[in-house]
Amino acid sequence: MEATRTAGNIRIFEDPEQVARAGADSFAAIALSSISDRGLFTVALAGGSTPQLMYQLLATDEYKNRIDWPRVHTFFGDERCVEPTDPESNYGMADEAMLSRLPIPSYNVHRISGEGDAVADASLYEDDLRTFFDPAPFPQFDLVLLGMGPDGHTASLFPGTNALNEQKAWVVANWVEKLGTYRITLTPPAINHARNIIFLVTGESKAERLPEVLGPVRDPQRLPCQLIQPITGSRLWLVDKAAAQRL
Ligand code: 6PG
Repeated sequence: MEATRTAGNIRIFEDPEQVARAGADSFAAIALSSISDRGLFTVALAGGSTPQLMYQLLATDEYKNRIDWPRVHTFFGDERCVEPTDPESNYGMADEAMLSRLPIPSYNVHRISGEGDAVADASLYEDDLRTFFDPAPFPQFDLVLLGMGPDGHTASLFPGTNALNEQKAWVVANWVEKLGTYRITLTPPAINHARNIIFLVTGESKAERLPEVLGPVRDPQRLPCQLIQPITGSRLWLVDKAAAQRL
């Protein structure tokens, strides 16, 4: 999918459908190279509403036959503290849009349990990741998919919250005062050790914050997306014109 405008690692597209297609193409390309290099593909899925179109696309015949799904392990960047059947569940959204429609063995789907005690669920998920990625100092996902909130948050790394300063844990239960709830989220170092990081950002509501996040002034406590700095990997922004209108 050709971008209408590209600036460095930012690719701008006409609309959310084209962003979803560019995302699906990148997902498929990274999956193919990871499977040929290492025999499997590990991806941390983003939540929220923006990735849904891309997930639906990946479940179509066009992409279904391009990826060796039994060799795909899906993880999650963050989760809301709800049941998996709750409309707010990131797992629920991804399962409905994609996972339940693909030949991915259920044991390859590493869901974050959000329905129990948040601190216990976060440690459960860290155990799952450590079982899979140990003895690495941090998990090295082949791909981490992320979104951006109108406030500049990503995953569940919200402005001014404790998780922003986490340097050791892979997963934390992050108290988000403005939501009055915990969120379970990968930490910045767990994300930054990924081989590839792709942000999907669409819609007018993101237009005010995106120039600040991408701008020269660093203020990660206020703009947590700025904490996403891959150690050795790549970072790509797939954005639509509405979100990029002030760039
Ligand atoms: C979540 C996400 C979050 C999301 C942004 C953007 O659980 O909500 O992980 O970081 O990516 O809030 O959300 P939208 O895609 O719905 O705009």
